[in-house]
Amino acid sequence: MATVVRERNDPRQYDDLAHEWWDPGGAFCALHWLAAARAALVPEAAAPGALLVDVGCGGGLTAPHLAGKGYRHIGVDIGAQAARIAREHGVVAVQADAHRLPIASGVADVVVAGEILEHVVDLDAVVAEVARILRPGGLLVIDTLADTRLCKLLMVTIAERARVAPYGIHDPALFVDPDRLVRLCATGGIALRVHGLRPALGQGLAWLAGRRVDVQMLRTRFTNVVYQGVGVKAGA
Ligand SMILES: C[S@@+](CC[C@H](N)C(=O)[O-])C[C@H]1O[C@@H](n2cnc3c(N)ncnc32)[C@H](O)[C@@H]1O
Repeated sequence: MATVVRERNDPRQYDDLAHEWWDPGGAFCALHWLAAARAALVPEAAAPGALLVDVGCGGGLTAPHLAGKGYRHIGVDIGAQAARIAREHGVVAVQADAHRLPIASGVADVVVAGEILEHVVDLDAVVAEVARILRPGGLLVIDTLADTRLCKLLMVTIAERARVAPYGIHDPALFVDPDRLVRLCATGGIALRVHGLRPALGQGLAWLAGRRVDVQMLRTRFTNVVYQGVGVKAGA
């Protein structure tokens, strides 16, 4: 099969690699680790059927980690294949652009947005959309990549050369400054607190040596590579 060359950050790359979503040793292996860390920050639903919106849901990797917490899990992704695969894993997924979420205002009890903000061309608009759909008192859980030289070196230059990340999957110009993200969330009424994430060292080394596929992501105070943000929307 001929390989299609795409521009950096072209979201169609995720469709090209759709067969990799659920391969724990495949191109998206680190997304599995991050999905577990993200879902760990989501409490059980306060009421059965509470609405959780997964913005940029990809193939639905958070689904098994959220199962049993009592949410209706709705996913939104720009990729047709991602939405299809997420549906196969129990997510009610729609193909749509996060810049214009097809969801009413103030209805989501929880919004998760994992590893999408470093892909969007208008961060202000996407964060405003996330804040719009979250209900007062609702919870936002985000993870993304930091706009630092270290992150660009590790996540683009080295990761692509070592074939740990697919070539061209990221445009480092879109990486997200944590302070800017906190400010944008505050504009939307969400008090976001950020902390860094890093792989558990021994497990990361075992993964590099090909001896394991899953690696636990641990909290760190350094937000200069991968970081999470957690916040509640005011006004409940
Ligand atoms: C790195 S993946 C993360 C997927 C998922 N959140 C996870 O952690 O497994 C980024 C996802 O964002 C989606 N995406 C990129 N730009 C988007 C946009 N403007 N609107 C909706 N989804 C988008 C891609 O199609 C891809 O599935």
